Amino acid sequence: MIELTNINKIFQTKEIETQALDSVNLTIEKGEFVSIMGPSGCGKSTLLNITGLLDTPTEGAVQLNGTDVAGLSDRQAASFRNATLGFIFQSFHLIPALNVLDNVELPLLYRKGISAKEGRKRSLEALAKVELSHRTKHFPSQLSGGQCQRVAIARAIVGKPEIILADEPTGNLDSKMGTEILELLLALNREGTTIVMVTHDEKIAERTHRTVRMLDGKIQ
Ligand SMILES: Nc1ncnc2c1ncn2[C@@H]1O[C@H](COP(=O)(O)OP(=O)(O)OP(=O)(O)O)[C@@H](O)[C@H]1O
Ligand SMILES: [Mg+2]
Repeated sequence: MIELTNINKIFQTKEIETQALDSVNLTIEKGEFVSIMGPSGCGKSTLLNITGLLDTPTEGAVQLNGTDVAGLSDRQAASFRNATLGFIFQSFHLIPALNVLDNVELPLLYRKGISAKEGRKRSLEALAKVELSHRTKHFPSQLSGGQCQRVAIARAIVGKPEIILADEPTGNLDSKMGTEILELLLALNREGTTIVMVTHDEKIAERTHRTVRMLDGKIQ
């Protein structure tokens, strides 16, 4: 499902060169729930962004679902991303000016072949899954952190992605809300979604199938 081969990533700024990823090899099977752990700056987000086609490696190959993504044009990559991947971030990344329902529906607007009616129906289904059917007209500023993250999860799953990439999804939440979010992700995984999640919390990592540990850009 996900295959990273010999990935190197070098960030070049005016003064310094940072090797964020150093010869990373990682294979994740369909249906796995994998956590990624390691100290700040070790390359976790870089790895997730490259896996999710939000960034490109300096060297190495990324295969998703058997497709070598280096061969895709920007437009093809965007459409592949939209159809196959769902993203969840620590800081939710909701659009403040849109209400809950419109935030969730947003990814579908970039998809061909989904009518407005179908889009609405799917968005309401996604919101029901995260138990927010009663908050569709609220704006992000009117929600708790845990509710915001549930909206972000609804937005990530509305397109029925095969893979969810989550970068510290519980990082901004207290432990009770964090557990709720983890339970939601576990339920999605049981339904077949492959999940890769960065976390700093050993207790959360313990609940996943496998933990990948990183240090200084390398997998240990
Ligand atoms: N756009 C960038 N330009 C220059 N350097 C970068 C850039 N993005 C990341 N880096 C560097 O690459 C390294 C890895 O960063 P990354 O964000 O992947 O770490 P991380 O493991 O996610 O850390 P954290 O736990 O703090 O989120 C760091 O040293 C960082 O400074
Ligand atoms: Mg990070």
